[in-house]
Amino acid sequence: MIRLVFAALLLGAPSPGFAAEPIVIKFSHVVAGDTPKGKAAEKFRQLAEKYTSGRVKVEVYPNSQLYKDREEMEALQLGAVQMLAPSVSKFGPLGVREFEVFDLPYLFPDAETVDRVTDGDIGRSLFAKLESRGIRGLAYWDNGFKQFSANRPLRVPRDFRGLKMRIQSSKVLEATIRQLGALPQVMAFSEVYSALQQRVVDGTENPVSNLYTQKMHEVQSHLTISDHGYLVYAVIVNKKFWEQLQAEIRTQLEKAMRETTVYERAIAKKENEDALAAVRASNKTEVYALGDAERKRWREALLPVHAKFAQAVGRDNLQAIYRIAAEAEAEKANKKK
Ligand code: LMR
Repeated sequence: MIRLVFAALLLGAPSPGFAAEPIVIKFSHVVAGDTPKGKAAEKFRQLAEKYTSGRVKVEVYPNSQLYKDREEMEALQLGAVQMLAPSVSKFGPLGVREFEVFDLPYLFPDAETVDRVTDGDIGRSLFAKLESRGIRGLAYWDNGFKQFSANRPLRVPRDFRGLKMRIQSSKVLEATIRQLGALPQVMAFSEVYSALQQRVVDGTENPVSNLYTQKMHEVQSHLTISDHGYLVYAVIVNKKFWEQLQAEIRTQLEKAMRETTVYERAIAKKENEDALAAVRASNKTEVYALGDAERKRWREALLPVHAKFAQAVGRDNLQAIYRIAAEAEAEKANKKK
């Protein structure tokens, strides 16, 4: 037995009963655990540990426990964490503004259109732009449509005049807020609740699951269901870490990620619907849903942002998304017939 252990140590093979240390994936993110992304991160942990038979251990750090927005990107590039799932609105500071095409107002009619774009050439070509930054893109998750909240009713575009609105670090979002006559304020997600509470900013935009789980509805008297934008996540890893994994492990992790992505997209809509019901039930925020005519007026008021950023986000990508959205709408109309 001793000879066997000794031979095994010499040959570098793990000797029977001597388990190699698991490979650790630190998965950091900025939202609460009971959100589409929070639940998906947990799902990935379970599947990754199952499919690798424990050879990989995933440690999930939600709610900016480890790093805030900007810091987490740097931490990933340095290898201090191995996996993130930031909003695609946060790649601008890395010099990849093309991701901001997803921030254009009223670009996507529904989740299916977003999935067609992210799972297609555009999604792949955008991930390719991260490689030179030491980042590998694995998948796209989503958190549905964004809504506006503030401490006054937001029914028509001019209601935004003079408001300070918190946004993510995106030039397209900045221009969108300015187009409404409001003042954009870039801020880390973890700082938004206290900034709203202390009136450093007057309002913000997010899917309701984020608004509710961060208790922002407790410090915002009005919520408008505007569906004016879409929140897309990019699941990314440190490229060097990923490439040095054994091929077998990578395949098992890719399987876990594929299944988790199906799960995440399946729960996103319901999570936001449940959050909206909870906000309504709290009676802390007056909820107003735009009617079709109002939505059309908002869309017209915000469309100039498309023309302004067509060059910066990539004309070809934008034209391709218009085509995909038109096809999806036509298919929907045909189905109704
Ligand atoms: C935000 O900063 O508002 C969101 O991107 C947070 C998130 O990751 O959902």
